[in-house]
Amino acid sequence: MTMRKVSLTGIKPTGDPHIGNYVGSIKPALDLAKKFDARYFIADYHALNQIKDPKLLKDYIYEIAAAWLACGLNPDEVLFYRQSDVPETFDLATILMASTPKGLLNRAHAYKAMIQTNQAEGKDQDIGVNMGLYTYPVLMSADILLFDTNFVPVGKDQFQHIEMAADIAQALNYAYKDDVLVIPEPYSTPSTQTVIGLDGRKMSKSYNNTIPMFLPEKKLRKRIMKIVTNSQVIEEPKDPETCSVFTLYKLFASEEQIEALKQRYLAGGMGWGDAKQELFLVLNEHLSPYREKYDVLIQDRPYIDKLLKEGSEKARTIAGETIRRVRKAIGIG
Ligand code: TRP
Repeated sequence: MTMRKVSLTGIKPTGDPHIGNYVGSIKPALDLAKKFDARYFIADYHALNQIKDPKLLKDYIYEIAAAWLACGLNPDEVLFYRQSDVPETFDLATILMASTPKGLLNRAHAYKAMIQTNQAEGKDQDIGVNMGLYTYPVLMSADILLFDTNFVPVGKDQFQHIEMAADIAQALNYAYKDDVLVIPEPYSTPSTQTVIGLDGRKMSKSYNNTIPMFLPEKKLRKRIMKIVTNSQVIEEPKDPETCSVFTLYKLFASEEQIEALKQRYLAGGMGWGDAKQELFLVLNEHLSPYREKYDVLIQDRPYIDKLLKEGSEKARTIAGETIRRVRKAIGIG
């Protein structure tokens, strides 16, 4: 068997994954397992920068683990672990600090955006900036480089971080005149599409316009009925291409279903409630198997703990080898 290249996906524990997350990131990331030696981890230390409520963080960790498992992550086939269970990550992060120019971190988008906002508001530029935010790209580089990652599937907002990981790895390799670390590349999936939300803008928690993935049936229907449509009356023919309901329908319906609904739009005589009901039906059919799995998993924390523990043991075997190699190269250990 030929050695497959490694892909690595970091998952930030945030609550309530929605169908935008599913279509745009969960599904494409899970598809990578067909092609790569795929590794997935919950980036819980990364979440500390924002979440200071321990109970909430714990809930989020279980929710995100249950969500990915429900969506098809198979821990028998891929590596699935929690960042905090792999202390080698923090060992490597400290080593990488010594090869990371401060200027590189000054240019990181998230940090830069915060200091620019502070400056624009006439405040001290460092207000609200913790070192976790500032050094975020180093910790993320450690996550990636520890596992000899070739490809990191990420959205555009994370591209810069992957480039930084590559820069930091190159700096270390150069300093020690050795190929100690594998240079990672961002991997963009061709089908990464933006899913629109209830109000027609990009689906995002910050716009409060999401359709959460695991809503019970009744609530899902209610949520779909909230999609903003125009004020055309039932009799009028409607334009499917400019309609949020139809746009979402296209993501989940079959070719025949799409064509049939399109004809009903064009013919007139169909109200928005009817179109939304059709969307509810396909979406509910699509989501119910995931919902059923999720509902079982989220009740069984010991099972999730067990899976993550097993995953972390395998992860630490790989991570331990990398750390030994790096330590040897730098003259420690
Ligand atoms: N920064 C990523 C995000 O916000 C999460 C993440 C942390 C990550 N470490 C990573 C992603 C390593 C890929 C690889 O979504």
